[in-house]
Formats: sequence, structure tokens, C-alpha cells
Amino acid sequence: MKVLVVGSGGREHALCWAIAKSPKCDKLYAAPGNAGIADIAECVKIKAEDVNAILKFAKSEKIDFVVVGPEAPLVDGLVDKLEKVGIKAFGPSKKAAQLEGSKAFMKDLLAKYDIPTADYGVFDEPDAAKEYIIKMEGGVVVKADGLAAGKGVIVCHNKNEAYAAIDHIMIERAFGDAGDEILVEEFMAGEEVSFFALVDGTTAVAMGSAQDHKAVHEGDTGPNTGGMGAYSPTPVVDKAMEKKIMAEIIQPTIEAMAAEGCPYKGVLFAGLMVKDGEPRVLEYNVRFGDPECQVLMARFNSDVLEALLACAEGKLKDAKITWKKSTALVVVMAADGYPGHYAKGTHINNLANASSVKGVEIFHAGTKLQGKKVLSDGGRVLGVTSIGKTVKEAQEKAYEAVDTIEWPEGFCRRDIGWRAIEREEA
Ligand code: AMP
Ligand code: GLY
Repeated sequence: MKVLVVGSGGREHALCWAIAKSPKCDKLYAAPGNAGIADIAECVKIKAEDVNAILKFAKSEKIDFVVVGPEAPLVDGLVDKLEKVGIKAFGPSKKAAQLEGSKAFMKDLLAKYDIPTADYGVFDEPDAAKEYIIKMEGGVVVKADGLAAGKGVIVCHNKNEAYAAIDHIMIERAFGDAGDEILVEEFMAGEEVSFFALVDGTTAVAMGSAQDHKAVHEGDTGPNTGGMGAYSPTPVVDKAMEKKIMAEIIQPTIEAMAAEGCPYKGVLFAGLMVKDGEPRVLEYNVRFGDPECQVLMARFNSDVLEALLACAEGKLKDAKITWKKSTALVVVMAADGYPGHYAKGTHINNLANASSVKGVEIFHAGTKLQGKKVLSDGGRVLGVTSIGKTVKEAQEKAYEAVDTIEWPEGFCRRDIGWRAIEREEA
């Protein structure tokens, strides 16, 4: 079959790499792809957000199946448009994508169906939000309702910070229209984990857990980024915890979405806070995480294309999905200065030698080709991904490959996986 992957990040390179291995995949396209994806797929110059151009291309090339990486085209209704013309797609409908597209939609759904999450209020004007805060005990988190490229969340240490956050979003309009409405939430303490499930409308299959490293520097310090590294699975989510998350969070959410008339299909990515053995929902994303996808794809044992197709076709119940027993870990290499200002177009060398380290796969994010040379073309540039028996072993292999790459203008965190390694060594 002809498959099109939408997006250009490390997540989409990992998806392309996994899909290309399927005997069912005769031809693979990516829109727009990157220098790494170009090795295994035909890259077409269409931006992931250009929903109409993607639809036109999929129709004219007679694409059989479209796998959507990022959230923006999902929230814009790409899957609805494709399905309307008879093209199968992996990802939720526009309405179901509200689970990520509107935090108020997500929180109201969870409250209505008694799914564990932080107490909250939704406000469309600042004074009412400030009044709500006066009565709150403990820490406060202020969030813009809409999509704000992962930046619309402000964790506040006291009430004055919370008032300032409300003004920043609603009066200074720091995130534009995404801040027309805001949420004020109770601060939840605990350990944060990501949990993923494949969903076909009614059936959900656990993919397991991962832990991201959002802060730019070692020890989780410095400003937040899109994610500097991840590993999967995480020891916080053992078999019993996975069962609990599926029974108390994922399955009730799937049933709630169906009851609301917007059955959920695709991957459901739950950001969870676990405290004293109790998981609560921080957020939902309607797509794979980046870089979490890289480690999930590395651990996939069965045919990824078949699994994603089963989600689109409502056939997950019969799908055979198996996982490697090993741990996977990804170290993100970013351009100096990221997440602030950084240069593009710097040269990256010795990638072939780095990827020959056993068990290592290098996924590209912001890269482009100049002839045969690979140049940086974004903030997060490479995802050096490895498999090991333990997190420690996977980490050692990943850094061996990282140290083989010649890219003086790049950097990475040197402690990816530290929480799990501390546990392994305890
Ligand atoms: P979100 O995009 O809603 O997941 O928020 C981004 C990050 O802010 C999360 O990954 C958490 O680290 C933090 N966060 C969000 N909401 C809360 C909360 N209610 N309590 C504690 N931390 C939170
Ligand atoms: N790595 C976090 C995310 O993709 O949202």
C-alpha cells in the first residue's frame, strides 16, 4: 500500500522507519519530512499544517493510508477531510482532537465522567479567575485553553505569581487567541509519566509508559523545551500500575468520548502525575510525543503499519501487537542556544559511524540536506536512540553514539534516564 506520513520531526522519522519495515508498505511518502526521512521515503514539499494541500496530494497520488504526526493538522480536521474522500487515516477527528486542542473540553469531560485529575475552574475574564484563586489552597497552575506550542502553562509558586500569569495570558495576550479562555488548576505534586495507548474508537491497547526530560539542562534545570530525551518503559509504571491506568483512566476516557458522540481513534497520550500509587491526568495529547515516539517505535516488535491501520479500521481487538522486552532511550541533540535563539545550517558529520553502534538508531528532526551533507535546520536536530537490557545499558550506548557525532554547534543533556538509573542502582 501507499502510505503518507505527515510531519518533519524526530517523531515522524521514527514512524517512517518503523512503517518502512512492514511488508505491507510498498511506497512511503512524507510531507514535508527531513534529511533522515529522505533516506527511506519520498519527501514532498508540503507543510504539515497545510491541510488542503495534503488532502490534494493524497487524492492525486492515490494514497491508501495517512499517518498524522503533529497535533495542528488533527485539530484542523485533516482526518475528517481524508475520510470524507475515502482515504484511511491514523489520528482522531477534529472533534475528538479537542482533547488536546481545548484544555477546557478535556477537563470538563474528565469531571463529567469522574476521571481523576486536578481541581480546576475555567474563566473567560481575569477578575473571576483571580477571585477563584483567593479561595485556593496550595500551588496554582494557570493555563491558556488553546494550543500554545506547549508553552501555555504557567506553574505558580504563590498567588501573586498566579495573578501575574492571568494578566500575561488574558491581558498581554502572550499566547494570542489560545488565551481567550484560561484554566486555573490545583498544583499536583508527584512523579510525571507519559502513558500511551492505541485506540480504534472502542478498544484501547496499552503501548506502555515513557518519561520525558523537558528542561534543557542536566538535573532538570533551565527553561522547558519540547523534550531533551526520553526512555521507555519507566519503572514507575509496573504491570499493576499499567492495569490501573488502563482501567481508571484510558478506558473510561474512550467510553466518555464515544458517549459524547466523538469516538476516539489514534494514539492517546496521557500526561499523568503519580503520587502514592495514584495516577491523575495532567493533560491529554492526541498524537505521539516527540521524543517519546522514538523510544516507543524502537520497542515495537510486531508490524507497526498493521497496528496503526487496525486503529483506523476499528480492528484493534484482533491485532497482534508485541513489544521487545528491552528498554529504549533517546538523547536529543539540539543546536546551541535552543530553546532560545540558535543558528541553522551548521555541518553535522560522522553520522554513519555513530549509527553503527550496536542497537543504536539515529532519528533526524531539524535537519536538511545540502548535496550529500547533513546540515542543522532547527532547534532539536537529532534523536540518538538505543536499546538495552537496562536503562543504564541503553544510556551508555546512546552516549557512545552521541560522542561519535561531529557537531561542534550542538549539545545534549548528559543525564537522560537519571531517575530510572537511580532506581536501578538503589
Ligand atoms: P500540560 O501541557 O498541561 O501538561 O502542562 C505542562 C507541564 O506543566 C506538565 O507537564 C507539568 O509538568 C506541569 N503541570 C501542568 N499542570 C499541572 C498541575 N495541575 N500540577 C502540577 N504540574 C502541572
Ligand atoms: N515530548 C512531549 C510532547 O511531545 O508533548
